Amino acid sequence: MNEQDILRTELRWGAVVAGAVGVIIAVVVVSSAAMVLHPPSNVEIVNPQALTQSLEFNEANLGTEILPDGSAVVRLVATQFAFVPRCIPVPANRPVTIRAVSPDVIHGFIVAGTNVNTMVIPGYVSEVKTEFREPGEYLMPCHEYCGLGHSEMWSMVRVARAEELVPDANGRVSCEIPR
Ligand code: CUA
Repeated sequence: MNEQDILRTELRWGAVVAGAVGVIIAVVVVSSAAMVLHPPSNVEIVNPQALTQSLEFNEANLGTEILPDGSAVVRLVATQFAFVPRCIPVPANRPVTIRAVSPDVIHGFIVAGTNVNTMVIPGYVSEVKTEFREPGEYLMPCHEYCGLGHSEMWSMVRVARAEELVPDANGRVSCEIPR
């Protein structure tokens, strides 16, 4: 091969790489714009040392709240090595907002079979919006290694038909309520 050929080969591979980068950027742009796929991007800070005193994340306020419009807000604490609460009732086919905090280390969770997938970082409120279609029980494990009890850290999301979830006077539902 002479120098000309080498230069041509280099240019050709340069074009291949540029093309690949272009395709990747196009996929990211199209999927985030057209299909509304994007990582949770909520930036909201909270004092991880004072969660029990916080208005929103004190123990009595954790769990599922049904709002007047029928949507639900779930407030969770992710801590070594459990989610509080252990069982999370939510209505099917209604908007559900999950808000989670950690007082200790980085945790995370997914809900099997759904788009719910976030990290929970001390100091920040993680927020995920979703809608569950099928009633049933969905495992919600911690997916960030957080210590020796990591594999024991999970909750159960119980998706029920909206009519079956009867909130109390404060709009709360829990898994203990008979359905
Ligand atoms: Cu919490 Cu792993």
